[in-house]
Amino acid sequence: MSTAWSWYIIIGTVLSMLGCFWLIFWSNKQRASDEEIKESEAHVWDEDIRELNNPLPMWWLWLFILSILFSAIYLAVYPGLGKFAGISEWSQHDQYNQEVAAAEAKYGPVFAKYGAMEVVDLVSDPKALGIGKSLFANYCSQCHGSTAQGARGFPNLTDNDWLYGGEPAKIEFAILNGRAGVMPALAPALGSESDLDSMVEYVQSLADGQDTSSPAHAKFVMFCSACHGADGSGNQLLGAPNLTDDTWLYSSAKAEIRRGIVEGRRGDMPAHSQLIGPDRARILAAYVYSLSYDSAAH
Ligand code: HEC
Ligand code: HEC
Repeated sequence: MSTAWSWYIIIGTVLSMLGCFWLIFWSNKQRASDEEIKESEAHVWDEDIRELNNPLPMWWLWLFILSILFSAIYLAVYPGLGKFAGISEWSQHDQYNQEVAAAEAKYGPVFAKYGAMEVVDLVSDPKALGIGKSLFANYCSQCHGSTAQGARGFPNLTDNDWLYGGEPAKIEFAILNGRAGVMPALAPALGSESDLDSMVEYVQSLADGQDTSSPAHAKFVMFCSACHGADGSGNQLLGAPNLTDDTWLYSSAKAEIRRGIVEGRRGDMPAHSQLIGPDRARILAAYVYSLSYDSAAH
């Protein structure tokens, strides 16, 4: 915050507090004069209710005065007035850092113990998996869902269908370094609208094998196979999904397949190494691995 803004805030805040004080005292002075009381004889309802300009009751005024005093004390002790840090010098950052340091001191050794173990050993440790589950809820569920079953554009981590591979090292790599699956917009390369339509149909029919009689077959080989493979079964080195199964990262609907070809696709999983460090990444990798481990052919 620049010094000018800081002063702007300080002066604005202090002036409005003084203004409130003044308003309270000013309105308190407006007591009904004898004249007013006399005039009001004309405005009597229900026998004894009169219209008079009386001040607010004192207890009510005191509430206002006390809240203004409270804000003055608060602003003196805590940060709030522009760049003034407050007498206590309390700050959100310091408190956060202290809490993080305390948590690190408490849980760090536990994480370090599991972080030194191999994923395949952690999978059979219920305590490690329990920790993994709550780490997942904290760091991953906003994208992959609380049950890790994913959503449109966010892969399901509980099945055996992997964009990049389901080995422990692959999962851990994804967590530490992130992943970015990129598919360029390809509609212009395909030609006309009807070429686009037949490509969409071709993709939908890939589950039944390659229809070499389709006009789109040659174009698929030319424009798509570098990433998705000639048979459409995908490429885990690039994160290019298998188009021959019935698991879809986006959707099997015509409009969605078409949209992907017209606009391209970009799946972005952020790197987490800075945020969580290697120990927690190892525990999380074990947790994710365990989700499909049972159903895997082990
Ligand atoms: C901001 C959203 C986001 C967050 C947070 C996130 N992910 Fe992801 N994740 C994605 C996306 C999107 C992909 C697919 C990337 C692609 O399409 O290339 C992905 C891919 C993955 C993959 C690869 C899946 C495969 O099929 O190969 C794994 C494993 C994974 N995430 C685990 C995690 C874990 C564990 C966490 C928590 C530490 C996490 N993700 C947090 C969005 C996220
Ligand atoms: C440069 C590599 C590349 C090329 C070329 C490419 N794709 Fe893709 N494609 C990808 C990647 C990577 C994804 C996953 C995008 C993501 O993670 O969000 C994808 C996603 C898709 C999807 C979504 C699949 C799902 O499960 O929802 C379809 C459909 C698709 N591509 C079809 C095609 C077709 C048809 C072509 C040729 C016209 C093509 N792709 C060319 C890399 C490519």
